[in-house]
Amino acid sequence: MQLVPLISLFVAGVAAASCGAPTPSPEMDAGVPHIPCEVDALLTARCRVCHSNPPTQYAPFPLVTQADFQRPFGGSTVAERAVGAVESDFMPLNATPLNSAEKTLLIGWLDAGVPLSTANCN
Ligand code: HEC
Repeated sequence: MQLVPLISLFVAGVAAASCGAPTPSPEMDAGVPHIPCEVDALLTARCRVCHSNPPTQYAPFPLVTQADFQRPFGGSTVAERAVGAVESDFMPLNATPLNSAEKTLLIGWLDAGVPLSTANCN
């Protein structure tokens, strides 16, 4: 009666051993927690022009890592301030405001407490 599970284990082992996966770069490796792919892409395109690390164009802080959003700022956190800044179109500064889909994506992530993801961005 133990035979079927043992055979499955053997087959799975052979399949894994024969799978010649390329070595991914560590930051794109599925399983390494990072800012969710779509949010990260939006931040890069619309915010990190200024909120890079170090920041440019007099931006007051970077928006690069999860910890950047969790820092205290102006009596709350950067994440909480970012909700208001994006909703009011104050940010991105002197640029086309985010469209409603972009606002939904970014504010949803900010309101959820800036959770990390382990999904593969490729
Ligand atoms: C062109 C450069 C630039 C871009 C692009 C930009 N910011 Fe800013 N950001 C600034 C500057 C400069 C300030 C300080 C403004 C001030 O205090 O008057 C600021 C301030 C902020 C603040 C603090 C607001 C407050 O409550 O005082 C937040 C939050 C913020 N930015 C988030 C974002 C987000 C999110 C994006 C992308 C959607 C973004 N910024 C894009 C330059 C930029």
